Amino acid sequence: MSRRKKIYEGKAKILYEGPEPGTLVQYFKDDATAFNAEKHAVIEGKGVLNNRLSEFFMQGLTAIGVPNHFIRRLNMREQLIRAVEIIPLEVVVRNIAAGSISKRLGIEEGTQLPRPIVEFYYKDDALGDPLVSEEHIIAFNWATQQDMDDMVALALRVNDFLSGVMLGAGIRLVDFKIEIGRVYEGDFQRLIVADEISPDSCRLWDIKTGAKLDKDVFRQDLGDLADAYTEVASRLGLIPKNGSGSSRPKLVN
Ligand code: TMP
Repeated sequence: MSRRKKIYEGKAKILYEGPEPGTLVQYFKDDATAFNAEKHAVIEGKGVLNNRLSEFFMQGLTAIGVPNHFIRRLNMREQLIRAVEIIPLEVVVRNIAAGSISKRLGIEEGTQLPRPIVEFYYKDDALGDPLVSEEHIIAFNWATQQDMDDMVALALRVNDFLSGVMLGAGIRLVDFKIEIGRVYEGDFQRLIVADEISPDSCRLWDIKTGAKLDKDVFRQDLGDLADAYTEVASRLGLIPKNGSGSSRPKLVN
């Protein structure tokens, strides 16, 4: 069997060459990192959960006409995706103040924002992914004005969709991050949602108790991360309620 070509390895995923031109295989690792990889652990089962959750969200987006990279799931940890040219920005949408906006602007965590706020961070680990403005993005040619408009529109559609899906599962969508990529179709290019949508890149709070069901559980040492993600997957109907008797994913280091 020939060894497949690794295209890129990030903190939580690996990209391999896909079976056809224009495709990639996205492998979800069990690694969890926070604070620009200062904190790291391997959470058994996290990759499997995120592969399934990202599939679910991307398929939902496809169903409502929001273009994204997902083609099909291949196995427990891998999915086939469209290759894109990633725009080097993290697009964050916030509904409720938490995390860096609370710190930066002194807004109490949990405060409902007057409207969804879209922010852009320049993807550069060495710089710690700094917040950037539209001026920076256009001046440094990371994206055009048209791309900016398209990115905001995409991000807000994802926000509406995810907020609704989460509400149905008794979960408040506090904020999330997406990445967007460029695809070329003949003479045209368009932007599509790429990377992943999972509890690694969202803040999800239980509507009744306020319990955190996302990567903050790991960032803030609030408990077992795989338990939190399992709860999200189970509420969304992706895995049987209260387990299937198999051993629970757990922290291994
Ligand atoms: P922040 O409050 O730390 O800026 O995070 C906003 C959202 O973006 C939150 O849902 C977590 C997500 N996020 C990532 O997915 N990757 C990152 O590197 C960071 C800093 C945040």
